[in-house]
Order: sequence, then C-alpha cells, then structure tokens
Amino acid sequence: MRTQVGIVGAGPAGLLLARLLERAGVDAVVLESRGREEIEATIRAGVLEQGTVDMLNECGVGTRMMREGALHRGIELRFGGQGHRIDLAGLTGGRAIMVYAQHEVIKDLVAARLESGGKIHFGVEGVSLQDVDTRTPSIHFRKDGAGERLECDFVAGCDGFHGVSRPTVPSRLRREFARSYPFGWLGILVEAPPSSDELIYAWHERGFALVSTRSPQIQRLYLQCDPQDALDEWPDERIWTELRARLATTDGWKLKEGRIFQKGIVAMRSFVVEPMQHGRLFLAGDAAHIVPPTGAKGLNLAAADVRVLASALAAFYRSGDEARLAAYSATALRRVWRAEHFSWWMTSMLHRFHDDDAFSLRLQRAQLEYVVGSKAAATSLAENYVGLPWD
Ligand code: FAD
Ligand code: DHB
Repeated sequence: MRTQVGIVGAGPAGLLLARLLERAGVDAVVLESRGREEIEATIRAGVLEQGTVDMLNECGVGTRMMREGALHRGIELRFGGQGHRIDLAGLTGGRAIMVYAQHEVIKDLVAARLESGGKIHFGVEGVSLQDVDTRTPSIHFRKDGAGERLECDFVAGCDGFHGVSRPTVPSRLRREFARSYPFGWLGILVEAPPSSDELIYAWHERGFALVSTRSPQIQRLYLQCDPQDALDEWPDERIWTELRARLATTDGWKLKEGRIFQKGIVAMRSFVVEPMQHGRLFLAGDAAHIVPPTGAKGLNLAAADVRVLASALAAFYRSGDEARLAAYSATALRRVWRAEHFSWWMTSMLHRFHDDDAFSLRLQRAQLEYVVGSKAAATSLAENYVGLPWD
C-alpha cells in the first residue's frame, strides 16, 4: 500500500486532517485500532469553539451540527449561591460556542470520508512506525490477521495520549511537561429537559460541578470526584445529592433530574511534548498534549493542530516548500501553551484542591468575584473560551 500521508488514529485530529487533505488534493490513508461503532459511541467532549465550527463548515461536514447543535452566546459562573453571566458574544465581537458532542462530529467525519471514497482501515492491530527520520517512512500493521505495510511520504500521529506515535520519537529527542491534579470528573448523561439555557460552571466548597447539555431531551452533567473512585461508589442518589448541593442558589433554581443512562470517570492532567515533530512524523491532538477539560479545549486544540499541519502539507505538495512543515511544531505549540495555561487557570479557579485549605478557597472566591466584576477580566476569560484567532 502507498499513500502521501499515513494517518494513525481516527479521532477528531486524524479524521479532520484526512478531510482537510482531501480538500487540498492530498492523498491519505487512516489507520484506526478500534471499530467504527466503537469510535462513534465513545462519549467525550461537547464544546466546539467558533473557529472549530467554522472549520467544520468550511470543509463541508457542518450541516448536521448546524441543525442539531446548540449555539451558546454566554456561560454562567456560579458561586456563593448566585449565577453570574459571562456574555461571550458581547465581550468578543459576536463570537460564540457550539454544544455538539464529539462522537457526533466523529460520525459526520467518518460518513463524509466514506462517501467520498477516502480510505479508513478500522480494527488494525500492531501498528508500528518505521523510518520516520528518513524520506521514506512506513507504517506496519496487521489487518484481519495479515501483515501489511503502508509506505508514505509523511506520517501524522493522531493516535491520542496512549498511542504509539509519541513513543516512536527517541526519548533523548523529546521533552515532556506534565502535571496531574488530585481530582477527576464524574460525567453523566441524563434523560431530562435542560436546566439552563447556558452552561453553568459552579464553584462550591464541596467541589466543582458543571451543567452542560446534549439535546432538548438529554443533558450532560459533571462533578468533581476522586480520580480513584469506582463508579459503584457513585449510586444515582449520591450523584443527585452532590449536584443539588453544589448547584444550589438562593433564588430557588431547581436542577431538572431524570434517568441517568451513562456514567464515566476521567482523570485530569496537563501534558505537552516538545517538539511535536520528528523527521517526517508529525504529532497532533492528544498524542502531543492533554488539557484538563475545564476549559473545553481538548478537541478544539486537536482541530487547531491539524489545521496548521494540513496547510503545511498542502503547501509542500503545491510547491515543494518545506518551510511550513519545518515550522509546524513551533507554530502549533504557541496555541497549545496558551490553551494549557487557560485550562490550568480555569481548573485552579474552580476545583477544590485540598480538604482544609481555607486560604485557597478565599483566593478562588476573590478571583471569581474579579472575573465577574471586571470587564477586562471577563473579556480575558471569554476570548480564551470562544477560542483566540487562528494566526
Ligand atoms: P483521540 O480522540 O484520543 O483519538 C485517537 C484515536 O487513535 C482513537 O480513536 C484511538 O482508538 C486511536 N488509536 C490509538 N492508538 C492507536 C494505534 N496504536 N493505532 C491506531 N489507532 C490508534 N475534552 C473536553 O474538552 N471535554 C471533555 O469532557 C472531555 N472528556 C474526555 C473524556 C475522555 C475519557 C478522554 C480520553 C478525553 C476527553 N476530552 C475531553 C478530551 C478530548 O476528547 C480529546 O482532546 C480529543 O478526543 C482529542 O482528539 P484526538 O483525535 O487527538 O485523540
Ligand atoms: C462539556 C465538556 C467540557 O469539558 C466543558 O468544559 C464543557 C462542556 C461537555 O461535554 O458538554
């Protein structure tokens, strides 16, 4: 098998890269270790920045998102029993976010790729990258038990945090920056009408809580928990008790409850590898960096990476210009570190870190009051949340 760009991983990064390359007339093959049904059913993120929405529309995969997604022009910060609206659109010259689940984006990208005849191999095993520091890299894998080899000009490592691409870069040539947090998020999907028109990020002495949505019938809620907790330590009634307490207001607002039909716990970490390239291997998305989910940046950063990478690859095939490929890591890392800072900052402001650190709680309250009381501080949150301009 031969192609121009071999893409490892059919997550948002890999599928979006394949789509952008297809639009630029560059041939690619996507290799994915899981099955189509599995990737289309994995519940993850839900917030798309304005720029990600524009990108999906520009590459012709935004129709269902525009119909079924929900455009939000503000978010609420809730603390001390009161809500405070951050007017995202008003503070950013009209920019907004779209709430549309990651697995719906995946479904749209897979459908578009298969419809246009693009190649995705699902369920591949034993993927290994060879000769990425030469001009003739290749990807070895097994498909239906048979050994295969994909020869390519470039390899895009879009295989997430636990993939094989990042470890292919010799450890002496990469530097990793990491931080883990002493908490995780318990996420649930609930059959209920929305409790709020906009997302609610709630600070509370008992821990953080987040009210998001998926549709008029299905809601997405998160609450801070111990990352070591097992799901059976969180029976439904305990979840509702915590959510009610953390989201309570003084004006009698009521959380809409219903049947919980999905639960999961995610650990939280910050991570960046530098550089994001080695020879002809380019890392994108979670393969290169992780953010805690509080800023809703993970999926959006993956999209930003592949936007830079696709246009550099397109320039190479158009004119032989390698300068933009050479600059890929430096270009992508500028946005990555901005998002790392924002995600760490939101996380630090909103979560309970220790059981008895009254000083930190007071600092958090002071910061929250400043953010909702100062137009300058609110604008800083808003412009990062909706996504800073691309270039
Ligand atoms: P991924 O989505 O991880 O895709 C990588 C793909 O590569 C996967 O399909 C995987 O099966 C495949 N793969 C892995 N190894 C191989 C291999 N060796 N060979 C072939 N294929 C391989 N962000 C938020 O903003 N909010 C959230 O609530 C949120 N929740 C999350 C929950 C979980 C459990 C996780 C893991 C992440 C969450 N994120 C969240 C982050 C966000 O979902 C990611 O940033 C986003 O999925 C990154 O996309 P990606 O394409 O880089 O990686
Ligand atoms: C969702 C996820 C996030 O990480 C976030 O900050 C806001 C919303 C969601 O899944 O809806």
